[in-house]
Amino acid sequence: LLLLCGGGVAAVVWLVSGTAVDTVGKVAFDRPLKIPPLAPSTVGADGTRVFDLTAQPGASDLGHGANTRTWGYNGSYLGPTLRAARGERVAVNVHNRLNEPTTVHWHGMHLPAKVDGGPHHPIPPGSDYQAAWTVDQPAATLWYHPHPSDRTERQVYRGLAGLFILDDDQQPAGLPHEYGVDDVPVVVQDKGFDGDQLSMSDRFGSDVGILGDELLVNGTPGPFLDVRTTLVRLRLLNASTARVYDFTMSDGRPLTMIGTDGGLLAAPYSTDHVRLSVGERAEVVVAMRPGERVELRSRATGLGRFHGGRDSFDVLQLRAAGDLKAGTLPEKLADIQRLDPKQAAQRRTFTFQGRDINDDGMDMDRVDAVVVKDTTEVWNVANGHGTPHSFHIHDVQFQVLSVDGAAPPPELGGWKDTLFLEPGRRYSVIAAFADYADPTTAYMFHCHVLRHEDEGMMGQFVVVEREGDKPRLGHN
Ligand code: C2O
Ligand code: CU
Repeated sequence: LLLLCGGGVAAVVWLVSGTAVDTVGKVAFDRPLKIPPLAPSTVGADGTRVFDLTAQPGASDLGHGANTRTWGYNGSYLGPTLRAARGERVAVNVHNRLNEPTTVHWHGMHLPAKVDGGPHHPIPPGSDYQAAWTVDQPAATLWYHPHPSDRTERQVYRGLAGLFILDDDQQPAGLPHEYGVDDVPVVVQDKGFDGDQLSMSDRFGSDVGILGDELLVNGTPGPFLDVRTTLVRLRLLNASTARVYDFTMSDGRPLTMIGTDGGLLAAPYSTDHVRLSVGERAEVVVAMRPGERVELRSRATGLGRFHGGRDSFDVLQLRAAGDLKAGTLPEKLADIQRLDPKQAAQRRTFTFQGRDINDDGMDMDRVDAVVVKDTTEVWNVANGHGTPHSFHIHDVQFQVLSVDGAAPPPELGGWKDTLFLEPGRRYSVIAAFADYADPTTAYMFHCHVLRHEDEGMMGQFVVVEREGDKPRLGHN
């Protein structure tokens, strides 16, 4: 068929236009949105809250019959929502019942490097592993996912991911908070299918790995949500492998943003779109009127040339009951203490280019940054050119100081652990590295486009007790 088009240029044009994705108006919205169950836990004598997560294969109905082979935690696709409060000690027993190694990384969590779940600590097939730490950070929508060497993209794509919601005692009155009712997880992922199975090929021939042409929300194709309150809080997570989304409402009504990756914003911020790259979260509130139907969409991102063409999706239909319980959002949400760049002990620059950071790929034996515990650092992060990237630092939540030298927009005004790196732009972020020093174990920072991560677009930092201490990596 390509040959019949005659000539390379025509073939390329045909390919690009033939793979554009626009599902707006074409989604049936005929399945109730699945809500990931809250994971059961037990509280031991010492007060530790203990969870169990089993990574396992299974079969799921993702809209192409009941026999799509998928992976999940404690089920066949995705995992339960873990939930814990600030100050609690938590332990998660992870059981690997897959036929390959995996790890579980607690994305956004402040914890010791030893239990961070990076590629240094694979859990072999058939084995068990326990991560334990004390939650000490603000209420937030975090998540967990595999992070093994070379296999992260495929493991996440098959279904391994889940939310980890943190609570604290600072929640302002008025915020919707009934899980699955007016406080709703919205885990967005794109999928492609070959017949009734997930397509693992790069059929869009892109620079970012696997891309799909259908969306799932919490594993539900074509989902709707019955709404019973005037205010609905959506906890949006981009748990895709590569796609960026730009969420809007179908009738242009505002999305009121209340939270970013690491917690609530200082105050609600009304906007008409929320863009999330891979790994980012946003909490938004949508205002509903009785009896109406309105859709959450993802509009074209302008990244079509990396996404295999136009990229517009219908995401989730909200269906309001005839009678809605009224609510009012608080005016103030959280106190966010600004970190001061003048206090920074260190400034570093990381340029993302090709599959390298500062011209180097991942090396588990190389430490790219030695950070002194209880200091603050400014990291200048640039996207050299070309492909979009998604920048993630383990262990910390950072603040964005600037984008191309200018003050960041309000949607980047809260705590972040992942940041969309637009082609050609420069970002400056600041983070405080508190509490945990361990010269033997590295944390990661990396591109969260999972193909890029698997191809080594990662670096390592080690937190040491005091200035002059040397890292002594102990993983091998
Ligand atoms: Cu969400 Cu290093 O990962
Ligand atoms: Cu990247």
